[in-house]
Amino acid sequence: MKILIINGPNLNMLGIREPEIYGKQDYHALEAYCREACRELGESVTGGIDCEIYQSNHEGDLVDRIQQAYFDGTDGIVINPAAYTHTSVAIMDALKAVSIPAVEVHLSNIDSREEFRHISYAGKACVRSFMGYGFEGYKKAIAFLTGQYGDLPS
Ligand code: DQA
Repeated sequence: MKILIINGPNLNMLGIREPEIYGKQDYHALEAYCREACRELGESVTGGIDCEIYQSNHEGDLVDRIQQAYFDGTDGIVINPAAYTHTSVAIMDALKAVSIPAVEVHLSNIDSREEFRHISYAGKACVRSFMGYGFEGYKKAIAFLTGQYGDLPS
C-alpha cells in the first residue's frame, strides 16, 4: 500500500517557527516519526506501507504532487496544507480531482485558534481530519487510511 504524506508551507521551519504552538522538534523529526509510523502500522498491511513524504512552500507544486499521485499508484494521502488550508480552492479541487482517500492533519487545533483558521477548504475534500495532536495526528491519519484507527490507544 502506498501512502503519500504532503506538508505545506513553513512546515520545513518546524522547531524554529512558533515552538509554543508547533513544538520544538524539527521537520526532520516529523519525517522520521511518519516513516516509523508507516513501518509499524505496515506490519498489519499485506506488503507493508510504502511511505513517501513531500514538502513544498508553493501552492502549485502541492497541486502538481497531488495530481502525480493519481498516476503513481498512491492509495491514500495524508495532507497538512498548512496556511493553504484556509485559502486554497486549488488544493481542494486537486484532492477532489484525483479521488484518492485523503486525511487532513494539523499539528495545532485550528478550530480553537484565530477565526481565519476555522475554514478548511482542503478538509472539504478529505474523509477525516485530525487536529491538535501534534506529530501523533499523522499516525492517526495513517492508521485511519489503513483501517487500523480503532486499534490505536486513545
Ligand atoms: C497548521 C495550522 C495552519 O493554520 C498554519 O497556517 C500552519 C500549520 C498546523 O499544522 O497546525 O502552517 O496547518
